[in-house]
Amino acid sequence: MVKVIGILGSGQLGRMIALAAAELGVRAHIFAPDADHSPAGDVAYATTTAAYDDEAALDNFAAAIDGVTSEFENVPSSALARIARQLDKVNPSIAALDTAQDRLSEKRMAQSLGIATPAFWDVTSEAELVAALAALPDEGFLKTRRDGYDGKGQMRVSNTSDSAAIWQEMGGKPLILESKIDFVAEASFLIARDAEGRVEHFPATMNHHINGILATSTAPAPLDAAILQKGYDAIENVARHLDLCGILAMESFIAADGTLIFNEIAPRPHNSFHWTIEGATISQFEQAARLAAGLPMRPAMARGAWRMENLLGQHGDQIPGFYADPAVHTHIYGKDAFRKGRKIGHITYALSDSSDKSNKVS
Ligand SMILES: Nc1ncnc2c1ncn2[C@@H]1O[C@H](COP(=O)(O)OP(=O)(O)OP(=O)(O)O)[C@@H](O)[C@H]1O
Ligand SMILES: [Mg+2]
Repeated sequence: MVKVIGILGSGQLGRMIALAAAELGVRAHIFAPDADHSPAGDVAYATTTAAYDDEAALDNFAAAIDGVTSEFENVPSSALARIARQLDKVNPSIAALDTAQDRLSEKRMAQSLGIATPAFWDVTSEAELVAALAALPDEGFLKTRRDGYDGKGQMRVSNTSDSAAIWQEMGGKPLILESKIDFVAEASFLIARDAEGRVEHFPATMNHHINGILATSTAPAPLDAAILQKGYDAIENVARHLDLCGILAMESFIAADGTLIFNEIAPRPHNSFHWTIEGATISQFEQAARLAAGLPMRPAMARGAWRMENLLGQHGDQIPGFYADPAVHTHIYGKDAFRKGRKIGHITYALSDSSDKSNKVS
C-alpha cells in the first residue's frame, strides 16, 4: 500500500521533502494556512489549507496520513499534539518543537547538557535590559526569543547602547541578550535519528552568513577530528534529550581557541545541508521522508567536496546563467515574487577541495 506522509508547513524545505518522498513512492500531504500554490503544495499529492489551530482539519489530516513531520519549527506544538491523538509517533517530538521555538529554552537546554553557549541573559522588561546590557562584557546580539529567522528580530548592541530606544525598537517582546562570539568559523551539524534511537551523521558543514542570512555552505567542513567529535556528541546528546525522531540540525560557532559554542537547533532539514541532494549518498530530505514514513535510514557520506550558495530575490537575474552552467545544479523554489532578501532557490556544485574559494553568486 502506498504510504502518505504529512508535512506541517508549506515552504521550500517541505517541497524538497515531498520531492524526495515521491522518489521513494511515498506521497506527501501538506498542511499549512497557505498550502495551495506554495513551494511545497505545488509538488505534493494533497494539500490541506487550514490554520494550525483548526482541530477538525488537523483530525482529518491525521486520519489521511501514515506519519508526520514538520518543515517549519514555528508550527504551534498543539497542532502536533492533536495529530498525536491518532498517530503512534510524531516527528519531531513535541519537546523538540517547543524547545527550538524559543531561543532562551534552547540555550538553557544546551547549558543543562554541558554544551558551551555564549553568555546570555533573559530580558522581559526594560529594567532587565538595562541590567543585562550593563553585565555585557562589550558587544552582543539582542534577539526576540520567538519567531526569528534569517537574522530577523535581532540587533547588534554593546554595553553602551541606549536601552530605552532599543526596548522600543524591539517592540517590548521577550528577548534574549547574548554576548558576541569572536568566531573563526561557523559550522553546522546534522543527524537523523529513528524511533529506536539509532543515529546517522551527515558530514559537518562550514557556513558563511551575510547580513544574518546564510550565503554559502561548504562541506565536508575541514575541521579537526576533535572539534567534529565534540559537535556530533553535542547534537546526539540534544536529540536524545528531546527524544527526537527525524532530522536535527545544530548551528555552532568555532572560537579562535578551537572551542565549539552552541548557537541554535532546528528539528528539521537545514539550509546548510542542501548540498546533500547532489553531494551525499543520501540527502537530508530523503532521510527526513524515510523517517516520517517509517522506512530505514541510509548512511550519509559525502561524494567529494561541495558548495551550496543561496539565491535571494535580488539574484533572480542570475538564474538563466545558472541553468546554462553545466557544473551547476539549480534549485528554484517556485515562489511567486522574488523579494529582496528572501530565499528563492539555491545552487550547488562540486569543488576540487573544500578550501576552494570560488563563488558563483554575485
Ligand atoms: N552571539 C553571537 N555571536 C556572534 N555572532 C552571532 C551571534 N548570534 C548570531 N550571530 C550571527 O548572526 C547569524 C544569525 O544568527 P541566528 O542563527 O541566531 O539567527 P537566525 O535568525 O536564526 O538565522 P538563520 O535563520 O539564518 O539560522 C549567526 O549565524 C551569526 O553569523
Ligand atoms: Mg541561525
